[in-house]
Amino acid sequence: MKLFVDSANLHDIEEALKRGFASGITTNPSILSKEQRRDFRVHIGEIISLLRQYEAIIPLSVELFTTDADEMIRQADDFVQTFGDYEQLAIKVPIGWNELRVIRHLRSRDIKVNCTCCMSYNQAMMAANAGANYVSLFWGRIRDIGYDAAAIVRQVHQTFTERHCRSEIIVGSIRQMIDVPEAIQAGADIVTVPPKFFEQMCSHPKTDEAVAQFIRDFSDWNSASQATEAILAQASLS
Ligand code: E4P
Repeated sequence: MKLFVDSANLHDIEEALKRGFASGITTNPSILSKEQRRDFRVHIGEIISLLRQYEAIIPLSVELFTTDADEMIRQADDFVQTFGDYEQLAIKVPIGWNELRVIRHLRSRDIKVNCTCCMSYNQAMMAANAGANYVSLFWGRIRDIGYDAAAIVRQVHQTFTERHCRSEIIVGSIRQMIDVPEAIQAGADIVTVPPKFFEQMCSHPKTDEAVAQFIRDFSDWNSASQATEAILAQASLS
């Protein structure tokens, strides 16, 4: 079970890298559009610099931003030329009939592919069979239209396991903290999580209560023993 950071925000990525739990980064065009407007290549370049700075050579997914398959191939080649010296680059290609051509093109050059926007079992199978390294299933968006995201992830996981499929399942589109354990238990290899949930994921009111009690008890005991020492020291002087 691995956690990826679903963000292009440099501060949030750095906070995750400082804490060592991040096994990858996923971006998409909408996620990038939340950042300061500039050449996206510069921005991705800065994410890569951060990853190198923290010696975290982990998968970084960058998504194509066109729907035309020929243009996708051109864009993908441009990504590879621009960011290809980052060995863990994964090009994110949405699932689709023409998009399978793009996946094949990239895989034949041994470039990692994250096949994204999968909402169904069949889409996940097509992506895996085309050779995608990662198959991204969109938990929140699947549930938005009343389908059972956990059942779909479970079925895909079962088939991938039984058939020794190499593709890893990424579950994205996380909307609430409870989605994370549910997705992992359904069989996600990776859950990509918006940074706003990470701090919450390692917090618990009973943890705060326990830590506060330990500090208080120790501090009371420590100050009482210091007071006793002071009295004894005073007595030995007189
Ligand atoms: C991850 O790879 C996806 O791009 C992302 O999780 C999509 O999330 P959304 O449904 O909130 O846009």
